[in-house]
Amino acid sequence: MAVREVLRMGDARLLREARPVDQFGTDELNNLVRDLLDTMHHLNGAGLAAPQIGVDLQVVIFEITNNPRYPDVAPIPLTVLVNPELEYLSDEIQEDWEGCLSLPGLRGRVPRYSHVRYRGFDVAGNSIDRIVEGFHARVVQHETDHLHGVLYPMRMRDLSDFGFTDVLFPQSQDC
Ligand code: NI
Repeated sequence: MAVREVLRMGDARLLREARPVDQFGTDELNNLVRDLLDTMHHLNGAGLAAPQIGVDLQVVIFEITNNPRYPDVAPIPLTVLVNPELEYLSDEIQEDWEGCLSLPGLRGRVPRYSHVRYRGFDVAGNSIDRIVEGFHARVVQHETDHLHGVLYPMRMRDLSDFGFTDVLFPQSQDC
């Protein structure tokens, strides 16, 4: 459909609590998901949430397949996740680097739960129920945060681990 403008941090629309989707199979939902996919792929993102393109609904997508922004990460199948709910399966927390298309050019080290279960629906309304760990768990927590008005710097414990990607990682071609 279309590559949409991604809102950047500072835009108040990123701080809203998104509304749950109450109807599946609609043109509105299908078009939203297509726009999210087009926009994420265009920008080589690992994930994108509807509020990032100004749509106030609980829809996120994520995928890792040979992503130049995340070269060392195991693949995550393309997932469209509607009305997600998260459950933390242990108290274990890991810190690792994250980026976000709403903070272009920046990275920060963010603490996240290592093991989570997530539930929700795909675009057709079929239920999704997965237990994941590591980067997959991190991506889901990051994207779900967008539905509750939370951007990753708001989760950071130490802002000295926050900076520009090309300064932090000079070898990386990524921006
Ligand atoms: Ni993000």
